[in-house]
Formats: sequence, structure tokens, C-alpha cells
Amino acid sequence: MHCVKKVKEDIYYVGGSDRRLGLFENVYPIPYGITYNSYLLMDDKKVLMDTVDRSISQQFLENIEYVLGNESLDYLVIQHMEPDHCSMVSCLLQRYPDLKIVGNMQVKKMLKQFFDLNLDNYLEVKENDTLNTGRHTLKFISAPMVHWPEVMMTYDAYDKVLFTADAFGSFGTMDGNLFDDEVNFKSEWLSEARRYYTNIVGKYGPQVLNVLPTLDIELLAPLHGPLHRSDIEWYVEKYQKWASYEPEDKGVLILYGSVYGNTENAANVLANELSSRGVKNLKVYDVSKTHPSYLIAEAFRCSHLVTACVTYNSGIFVNMEHLLHDLKAHNLQNRTVALMENGSWACSAGKQMKDFFEGMKNMRVLEEKVTLASSMKEAQQKDVEALADAIVCSMENE
Ligand code: FEO
Repeated sequence: MHCVKKVKEDIYYVGGSDRRLGLFENVYPIPYGITYNSYLLMDDKKVLMDTVDRSISQQFLENIEYVLGNESLDYLVIQHMEPDHCSMVSCLLQRYPDLKIVGNMQVKKMLKQFFDLNLDNYLEVKENDTLNTGRHTLKFISAPMVHWPEVMMTYDAYDKVLFTADAFGSFGTMDGNLFDDEVNFKSEWLSEARRYYTNIVGKYGPQVLNVLPTLDIELLAPLHGPLHRSDIEWYVEKYQKWASYEPEDKGVLILYGSVYGNTENAANVLANELSSRGVKNLKVYDVSKTHPSYLIAEAFRCSHLVTACVTYNSGIFVNMEHLLHDLKAHNLQNRTVALMENGSWACSAGKQMKDFFEGMKNMRVLEEKVTLASSMKEAQQKDVEALADAIVCSMENE
């Protein structure tokens, strides 16, 4: 049975939700599922904006068939070639042999890489090219590296809709409600939208800043998650922060890597001291327990990071080391960092973490540091207090 929704006068949502997939891109846990959004423009010409992942193929095909009725599909605009959005291209070409694919040069190249297709019917477009469909004129805007090099967005000035590809997307399924003002986006969705952005597109902040919308927009239509029609300015401002690597909150994120709980104990003592000094909304995470994608999102949110870590195989504890590499790979910058280290012998995790952070962009590592030998003793209390003082001082002065 079809399951579609009209989202603008001539535009229908024909995508769907996947609640079965465990790991998006085989990496990111999606406990609340994911949507693959696709939109069908029913103008004189019928235009589909992207396809979906094959996991929801049946729903997608039924949706298109229902909305088209006796009409045929004229154009398929491909904004992004990642298979979660283009897996149905061959199938559509078989069903609608006259279908013309619209995309840029890189899309054409990738289509050939992914599929064996006859592309004689390909309409190649460039930045600012337009496609008139009757009442609507679609304008194509290059958005390279948001999230792949071929990505483009599409603006429909008639309905003031910006089809944004991966940008402005989120993890999570739509459960009947499609729009941001039908869900509690700011309180219930923002953390998953942040985790989606920072992990999927976070590395490419400068490219995101280049394409942040300045157009007259009534609807942001991304490829994942809710459609945005209220408070678009607020969401664009969030993107500006994330893409500029500016923290959203003045706050402390404590990340610990602990084998037998002694480093964890010291992390908790530090959190307690920070709280006593008036620091609110502290967050403490075990890097061996919480998936790195959540920690990357939290690191993008907070102004201050503390990494507390045991020395392991003469190096940084393995899960902390993995996380640090992930933070660097996602281009995190402009943060203040405090260090706690532990080692029963040859303690060196602190120095190694310091060197690592100093190899990242604009990371300020505080001089004060806590060093433990196996477990925290009264003698280290003053060191923890000094570290808490230094963090608070830095928060006040930044
Ligand atoms: Fe949702 Fe980059 O694909």
C-alpha cells in the first residue's frame, strides 16, 4: 500500500523509513532508525528528486506508482550518488524507459562506476543551470563534499523549496509526522541531527559554509529525517556553528578510558570538583562503552574536553586512541583540552595525548595535568583541584 504525503502544492514525499538497520553506513548505530527521503514533483513534467536505499524499495515503487497515476516519470534528478539514495536508479530506468537522468558530470562518472547503464538519455547540468518543468523551474547548486564531491542541491523558486541532499538531515525515522513543527525537534531530535551532521559531514565544514542557504526558503527538504518549515534560520545557525567548529555550549565533556575503574574514579572526582565550582551540564563518558559517534557529536557541542586515560601497551588506551583519531578525522578544532593520565609503570598517556591534540588545529592544551600511579590518593586531590580551577578559569576567560 502506498504511504505518501503532499508536502507542497505539487510536491509529494515518496520516501520511507527503515527501522531494521542496525548500523548506518555499517558504522553508526541508529537506535531510532533512518529515513530515505525522496520527493516527486508533479508539474507538467514529472520529476523525482533522488531515489532511496534498496531496503525500502517496495514502498518507494508503490509510492511513485500511486502519485504518478497514469502519468510517466520524465526526469530523475540525482543530487547525491551514495547508494542510500541511488540504489533504485536501474530499477526506475527499467520501469520508465524514457526517463531522463539529470545530474552533473561527477554524477555521470559515478553512475558508470556503480552500474552498467545506458546513459544516452543523460541531461548533464552545471552550477546555476535550470530545468523548467511547467510552473516550476529547478535551479541546481553545486555542494561539493557535502558529503561527496558530486553533491548538488536544487532550488525550486515557485514553492521556495531547497532540496538539500545530505545537508540538514538527521538519523531517526519519521513516524507519520514529516515536518519539524510536528515533532519536538529542538528537544528530541537535535542530538541525533547533530550526531548525523558531525559524523557524516563534519569533516567538511568549509564546504558546508560555502553552500549555507541565503535564498528565500519556506521548506528545507533533506534526504534524511524531518523536513524543515519552521525556524529555518535557527537550524541554519546551528549548521553555521557546527561547520565553523565553534562550540555550541560552554561546557565540559569528560571522556575516560579506564581498565579497572581507577581512572574512571579520578574522572568522577574531577567532575565533582567542577560541579562544586558552579560548572553545569557536565557530561562524563566511558570511551569503551559509548559509541564514538555520540562522543564526536558531544565534542562538537562542548567548549572544553577532558581526556582521562590509562597508559596501555606503552601508548594511549586503545579505545581512547581510536576516539582521538576519529576526532581528528572529523576535523574538530577550536577546543580547550585538559589531561589526566594513569600508569602503574612508565606512565606516558598524558604526553602522548598532548602531542596528539597539538597536532590538531587550534586545540589549546592546559598546562595543569593530573598524573596517577595506579589509583588516585589524597596526594593527588590538590592536582585535581588545580585542574578544575584551570578549566573554570579558561571557561571564564574564553
Ligand atoms: Fe545519505 Fe551521503 O548519503
